[in-house]
Amino acid sequence: MRDKTKIIMDVDTGSDDAVALMMAMLSEDIELLGVTTVNGNLEVALTTENTLRMVEFCGKQDTVKVYRGAEYPLASTLLPTTGQSLLPIPIRESIAKADYHHATHIPTPSFTIHEEKESAVVWLINTLLSSEDGEITLVPVGPMTNIALAMRADPRIIPKIREIVMMAGGIEANETPSAEFNVWVDPEAMEIVLQSGCKITMCTLDATHTAYLTSDDAERIRSIGTKESDMCADLILKYGSTGDLSNVLDEIHRIPIHDALAVCSVVHPDVLNTIYCDCHTDIGRSFAYGTTIVDRRNLSGDRPKNCYFSLSADRQKFVDWIVEVLEKDKAQKNA
Ligand code: RIB
Ligand code: CA
Repeated sequence: MRDKTKIIMDVDTGSDDAVALMMAMLSEDIELLGVTTVNGNLEVALTTENTLRMVEFCGKQDTVKVYRGAEYPLASTLLPTTGQSLLPIPIRESIAKADYHHATHIPTPSFTIHEEKESAVVWLINTLLSSEDGEITLVPVGPMTNIALAMRADPRIIPKIREIVMMAGGIEANETPSAEFNVWVDPEAMEIVLQSGCKITMCTLDATHTAYLTSDDAERIRSIGTKESDMCADLILKYGSTGDLSNVLDEIHRIPIHDALAVCSVVHPDVLNTIYCDCHTDIGRSFAYGTTIVDRRNLSGDRPKNCYFSLSADRQKFVDWIVEVLEKDKAQKNA
């Protein structure tokens, strides 16, 4: 059996984060060293509770600890004139209203475990500094606030990071008028990470919207017949219940489970179709605030390229991977 990839996930657990966490905890190819939580889909108290609930639901509370992180972005909410004002209603209200991230909590059967006393940034720094160079892969699937804070607080962690595989950014597909949600919540944090010099793979909305799941996929997953597969199917359908017509094309209800695709690409990098490019974040606090700007024609000349930016993804490979992880977990539990 090949060595497991050691990862730390940074999450703003909502429904697609919850599927990503489950995949990371159940995959035989991944060692999840710990999870840090951040403000994003929901406020950090709730993203932390939802994360704890998923760790307990998967029975991993002895090996996977949870560390609460940033309650606010670095700077984007300091001024009233942020990109968020471009939306008809504050996006947090729209998430709560649609409830596709479980605005109360993910309905797991129990919730008895607690977050660790160490804060996310302190734990990230200490864990990375005590690891070997290039040993740990970071998988942030929410706003980059914790990662940026850790890098600014102690740049010695940067050579310790093997790769950052993030769910962030996009060119064609965006949730706000101009930006992908994770970047839009904290554009300055995203730009700090993009300028860090780390190897970065961006699992973008362009990729997640081509690797969508359908309700048939969800029922195929449910038919595996475990509590984990049932939860996974429920989370997929819940996320797809936004009622956002942009997700319903040609009568196929396309459900992009964004964060789980980032985890899949840790194990199967070829699931993403990427270009190596120079990518930066608009932090200009105007109409394009939070946009990821990709120089696809190399017009920026000799400016160094800084990330593998995904333009699309292999939908079938992604769906089959989710099924494989859950089926192997079932077989192992029945052995
Ligand atoms: O734009 C999609 C991203 O925003 C996903 O990580 C989702 O969980 C939300 O955080
Ligand atoms: Ca997320």
